[in-house]
Amino acid sequence: MKITLSLIKADVGGYPGHSSVHPSLKEKAEEMLGKAKKEGILIDYRVAGVGDDLQLIMTHKKGVDNEEIHKLAWDTFKAATEIAKSLKLYGAGQDLLKDAFSGNVRGLGPGIAELEFEERKGEPVIAFMMDKTEPGAFNLPIYKIFGDPFNTPGLIIDPTMHDGFVFEVWDIMEHKRVFLKTPEELYDLLALIGAKSRYVIKRVYPSEKHPKIPHEEAVAVISTEKLYQIAGEYVGKDDPVALVRAQSGLPALGEVLEPFAFPHLVSGWMRGSHNGPIMPVGLKDAKMTRFDGPPRVVALGFQLSDGKLVGPVDLFDDPAFDGARRQAVEIADYMRRHGPFEPHRLPLEEMEYTTLPKIMEKLKGRFEKI
Ligand code: F6R
Ligand code: MG
Ligand code: MG
Repeated sequence: MKITLSLIKADVGGYPGHSSVHPSLKEKAEEMLGKAKKEGILIDYRVAGVGDDLQLIMTHKKGVDNEEIHKLAWDTFKAATEIAKSLKLYGAGQDLLKDAFSGNVRGLGPGIAELEFEERKGEPVIAFMMDKTEPGAFNLPIYKIFGDPFNTPGLIIDPTMHDGFVFEVWDIMEHKRVFLKTPEELYDLLALIGAKSRYVIKRVYPSEKHPKIPHEEAVAVISTEKLYQIAGEYVGKDDPVALVRAQSGLPALGEVLEPFAFPHLVSGWMRGSHNGPIMPVGLKDAKMTRFDGPPRVVALGFQLSDGKLVGPVDLFDDPAFDGARRQAVEIADYMRRHGPFEPHRLPLEEMEYTTLPKIMEKLKGRFEKI
């Protein structure tokens, strides 16, 4: 049976500030998705809050980019926005940038990750949700999961994975994409995705020779909606989400989680303008406190059963990730000591907030030739 897993998220108001989602927004989303389940639109759903982002995890049989599903997500965010406004939550409706739903939420503000696939006998899926960072933050972990044998021994010792994977990489500035196959094109892939603010991994596919999973069926997908391109100006980092399938010819659950034991540097954090470590946390710790962060990632794991979501298990709510959290705090201390200096503060062209044009205007007449 073909199942679609849709993870659609938006920041429709924070509390306090940009730190977390108010429970009443989650309740509203539960109510609306619950109704859609009763009506048979959804097979199943879960609602979560990660930082200030309201997360809708939904299963159905309607395929990706489906109008009815996107409309449901849009209406849910609109309804939650009304509550956010009534409570005067911070930045109510912040991610609903355009008020013109026409079949699809793509380009309207929310972030979207969707996979359609034939549900296997055992189908483990992981929903990753990051706050206070950008889609390129997934480049390093997704590369490690599907391309790096030092992370994923299955690439070497599981014959079904031995032929490698195909990475779909988007150039989010020029709206172009390229497909690169590992291990053959590993260096080309890394040359691009190391530049994570421009080249982002959008999807991963099994190789054409994969014995179990059809090559056209993506096994991982990352949201890549760039808010600043939607609104015509930089209005925010678009806190990304991702879906990853695991096991039986794909990386094992533990191979999928392993990259997050390293709190790598990502851009975002305070005012979308700073580099900092990404901290893996359970839902209870998914609130952005210190310097509006540090950026965090939550992983919810499910087994699918005819589209039903069995779970979640809150995968980073585990002492095995205490070391990564401790290291993230140390790195946060270290980075913070740079104050307004790069590379803690992002380079000028990547900052979400900048006063530079105004400062230049003020100092215009005072610059002397040297
Ligand atoms: C970063 C983020 C926050 C805000 C900061 C200032 O993505 O959401 O760090 O940028 O709290 O917010 P405003 O300008 O709304 O006061
Ligand atoms: Mg916010
Ligand atoms: Mg957010």
